[in-house]
Amino acid sequence: MDREILIAPSILSADFGCLADQVKQVAEGGADLIHVDVMDGHFVPNITIGPLVVEAVKRSTTLPLDVHLMIDNPEKYVDRFIEAGASWLSFHVEATNHAHRLVQRIKEYPGTKAGIALNPATPVTHLQYILENLDFVLVMSVNPGFGGQKFIPGSLSKIEVVRHMIDSQGFDVRIEVDGGISDKNADKVVLKGADILVAGSAVFGASNIPQAVRGIRKAASI
Ligand code: DX5
Ligand code: ZN
Repeated sequence: MDREILIAPSILSADFGCLADQVKQVAEGGADLIHVDVMDGHFVPNITIGPLVVEAVKRSTTLPLDVHLMIDNPEKYVDRFIEAGASWLSFHVEATNHAHRLVQRIKEYPGTKAGIALNPATPVTHLQYILENLDFVLVMSVNPGFGGQKFIPGSLSKIEVVRHMIDSQGFDVRIEVDGGISDKNADKVVLKGADILVAGSAVFGASNIPQAVRGIRKAASI
């Protein structure tokens, strides 16, 4: 596989009592991005992190922060999260009336990458007129809201369809897969065309965190 695979540990499953140390450990294991799951209790049935925590994580690492907004009306908050340190920013296409406008707005910040997230039941046709403007598509392989869920097998064909949409039009867009990823299925999602792998419980639930990151990278190197 000639595409560079990025590993993005999700701090949702980290020990928040020593978050800076947990972030250091994934960096030591060779993580490429730090995935930050923002949930508002409306778009998803859970409440997690706000911009203050993003700022704190930013101070603790030089790795880019990949902020995944699982919130209603993301247009109200994107500026605040970019100011807090997000350099990759995704929102769910169902959460806003003006996805195209919001992507443009995110990309007005130099160096900031914009992504659109699709829930498991959300059709890929939502991407049709916006794909070329994106830096990445986030394919959810669990229903968003919680870490530690089981990978939904149908996500594999969805990744394949999105990869075909991208490549057949010659676009330069990454596919991030999020939910239930471990060293047991990293190879399968990469084969279908994913090139950013988010993993929460498989990394932070491991007894050796750096080793868990290395294990996922090894499994993804096919
Ligand atoms: C789910 C989040 C994921 C989650 C992944 O709503 O978007 O990023 O943290 O956790 P695991 O890898 O445990 O499924
Ligand atoms: Zn996520």
